[in-house]
Amino acid sequence: MELLIDDADLKVIEHIYEYYPVDGVTTNPSILAKAGRPPFVLLKEIRALIGEQAQLHVQAVAKDAAGMVEDAKRIVAELPGNTYVKIPCVPEGFKAMRQLKGLGIPTTGTAIYTPLQAFLAAKAGAAYTAPYINRIDNFGYDGIAVAETIQDIFEKNQLPAKILAASFKNSEQLLRLCRRGVGAATAAPAVIEGLVKNPAIDAAVDAFVEDFTQLTGQTAMSR
Ligand code: E4P
Repeated sequence: MELLIDDADLKVIEHIYEYYPVDGVTTNPSILAKAGRPPFVLLKEIRALIGEQAQLHVQAVAKDAAGMVEDAKRIVAELPGNTYVKIPCVPEGFKAMRQLKGLGIPTTGTAIYTPLQAFLAAKAGAAYTAPYINRIDNFGYDGIAVAETIQDIFEKNQLPAKILAASFKNSEQLLRLCRRGVGAATAAPAVIEGLVKNPAIDAAVDAFVEDFTQLTGQTAMSR
């Protein structure tokens, strides 16, 4: 499963990149608004930081297909590299995805709350589809079950699209999708760091160092 950072704070992205094996960055207009800087200036800095091979998913904001296609052209022109244009899975979005597929611009179907949105996005040519796990849970439905159904649909219909699961609140949600083998997940930095935040892990590591220090008086083998 590919793992991406759902954030636009440069310092935070730099920190996560230093310590964790991540595959790229996803943003949405709300995340960019939180950063409070001119979007393309910030996105270019993110692209420069993560390099051209890393995935960068950026959302189109126009509400009609023609506008989404124009947004997409600007996104890939200003942010060269492994860039995906996020397109909402609504009728205008499916229309835009089909046109963008024809133009060779890769897309990620977003704002997915139901499996059939992902099915239609995949048929319209989206490379990734993003079900919103936690937001679905908040409606009283089961976000993981929605993602698992999408995975079944893709496998049983031989659709080449991948899931890019989004909107997580905890490690357990990520674990279940990792175990199911979905293509990708994007999570907030706090959720990524929470994957290994466990006092038992820290205690085990500290105990090994203490035992070695008692034996040798050293805190590392080379010192
Ligand atoms: C991804 O495509 C979404 O933009 C995002 O991950 C939603 O996450 P949230 O529900 O935590 O805002």
